[in-house]
Order: sequence, then structure tokens, then C-alpha cells
Amino acid sequence: MKDKKIILSGIQPTGTFTLGNYIGAVRNWTKLQEDYNCIYMIANMHAITVRQDPSALRRNTANAYALLLACGIDPAKSIAFIQSHNRCHAEMNWVLSCSTQFGELSRMTQFKAKAEKHPDDINAGLFTYPVLMAGDILLYQSDLVPVGADQKQHLELTRDIAQRFNQKYGELFTIPEPYIGETGARVMSLQDPTSKMSKSDDNPNACIFILEDKDTIVRKFRRAVTDSDTCVRYAEGKDGINNLMTIYSAVTGKSYEEIEREFDGKGYGDFKTAVGETVADHLAPVRERFNQFAADKEYLEKCWTEGAQKAESIARRTLSKAYRKVGFN
Ligand code: TYM
Repeated sequence: MKDKKIILSGIQPTGTFTLGNYIGAVRNWTKLQEDYNCIYMIANMHAITVRQDPSALRRNTANAYALLLACGIDPAKSIAFIQSHNRCHAEMNWVLSCSTQFGELSRMTQFKAKAEKHPDDINAGLFTYPVLMAGDILLYQSDLVPVGADQKQHLELTRDIAQRFNQKYGELFTIPEPYIGETGARVMSLQDPTSKMSKSDDNPNACIFILEDKDTIVRKFRRAVTDSDTCVRYAEGKDGINNLMTIYSAVTGKSYEEIEREFDGKGYGDFKTAVGETVADHLAPVRERFNQFAADKEYLEKCWTEGAQKAESIARRTLSKAYRKVGFN
């Protein structure tokens, strides 16, 4: 396992993936499979920091796993598993909690945002969630963590926790680096391009879900909020157009200059339709493969059971070392 660098990342199974999840994270995960030892996780333990309907969570977790495979994660190349299947995550969470400061967790912007959104359920798990995430990463001695820009702060905290533990108890953890893609690390809402595209947005037109049909995707792009200019170019103050150009660039591989040339003399309407159609066509094979994987429960269960066994055998080694270091008999 140590011949190649180790990559770990995770995604929460709260509904289907958004275009932000796809462009910011999962799309990169599939590319990294060739050159790294990759471990990908459905973070269902993280999901319950916000109240979930248990049967919906079970269904969403299975679907999220199927969707990972549909996006191109290959269980023969990567380890793909469901977080709660590997008990080491819960155990490591406790050890690391005792090396994390209250003040550090209080500064997490995602905690503050979620606490504001769910004022009636500011539970302790929501607060300590970044420690669970640090454990996810450190258990596998991960070198790189491919995420969108919104997870950067959690990654920095993970590095601080790992360094502190290593100093207190002696070298154990690899210090991980964030791996944040150049284009699409922050896909913005189609209705308010100054805020992140998020599945919990109240406005259904703000967010593209990757299993939506072509008509819906094109319609949402056509309704995307832009500005009063008419020229397709990447510039300060043109948040809506910048976001659409980022999305278009991420799925076509074209540079901003190429895109500007392609739409020279054309209006926003043409551009929005082109982005919508290109995204929908790009995602069509994912949708098709998802339907096949989701229907094959036996195959899914076989993959996630094997994935959890492989994940646990790696994680258990690190956890045992951590237990010895802190002085557990
Ligand atoms: P989650 O489930 O919120 O998001 C999964 C991944 O998608 C990225 N992402 C975005 N990227 C670009 N633009 C957006 N609008 C956008 N929205 C989401 C996220 O940055 C993330 O990479 N805590 C994590 C899950 C997790 C994890 C881990 C990640 C649990 N353990 C260990 C890395 C390592 C989360 O809630 O991601």
C-alpha cells in the first residue's frame, strides 16, 4: 500500500450529489485512481449531525455508493466503503477529541453556518464533526485529500491535530495535504452566485443534482442569475457568468479564453443553453450507470462489504498504534 501516495476523501449521503460535489470533488477522485492508492468513503456518520429520517438515510447511503461507482470509482482499483461499517472511525474520534481544543472547533465556519441554519438542533456532534473528519483522514496515513474549497479549513485543523498528537506522543500520523482542483473548487449557486451551490438550498433552481434529466438541467441553467452586460467574458463583478464559465470549463476542458472566443458575438441566452446542454450530456452516462448499479443490490453489498474489510485492516493498524501511544493497556 505504501508504494504509491495515499488519497482519502469522503462525501455525505444526504440526497444525490450536486454538480458542486461532482466538479469540486468526485470527478477528481476518479482521475486519481490510476496514480494513487485511493480510499473513498460515504460519510454516513457525518450525515447524522443534522437530523435524518433513518429509512431515507439508509436508502441515500446505498444510492450514494451506487453513484460513486456510476461516476467512475472502480472497486477493483480503489477502496470504496461506508464509514459506519468501519468502527475504527468512532474509536479514533475519541482519541483525537482529547487532542483538539474547544476554541479551534468554535472557529469552524461550517459549524457556525450549520448552527445558524438549524438553531433547534445544535448538537455536540455538529460541533465535534471536524474531529471525526480528522480521524477519517489520519487513520489511513493519507498524503492527499481531494476536496472542494469549503473543506479547506477542516483540512487545516486535521493537520494541526496530527502535529499536536505527534508532538505529544511521538511520531504516528502522516501530515496530509489538501488537494484542491484548479477549476471548480467552488461551484456557486445558480440563483445567488456569491454563495456556494448546496443541496440544502431552499430554491430548487439554485442547485443542479447530477441525476436530473436533461430538460431540468437546461431549464435551471437558462434561469441562472447573471448580470446586465451581454458579453461572455471572465471578469471581476460578473459572478454569475464567471460561475457558468467555470462549470463549462470544468466539463469541456476549455480555457476561459477559448470559451470567450467560442461565444464571441453571442448573447447570454445562447451561452446558458450551451452550458446546460453540455453539462446534461456529460452527466447522461453517469445517470445510465447509476440506474444499473442501484438495481443490483447484491453487487453493491458485495463491493461495500469488501471495501469495509480492506479499509478496516488499514485503519486498525493506525488505531492500535494510537491506543498504545496514549497509554491504553
Ligand atoms: P460534502 O458531502 O459536503 O461534500 C463532498 C465534496 O464535495 C465538495 N463540494 C463542492 N465543491 C465545489 N463546489 C461546491 N459547491 C461544493 N459543494 C461540495 C466538498 O468540498 C467535498 O469535497 N466533511 C465532508 C465529507 C468528509 C470528508 C472526510 C472529506 C467526511 N470525512 C474526510 C474529506 C476527508 C463533507 O461534508 O463533504
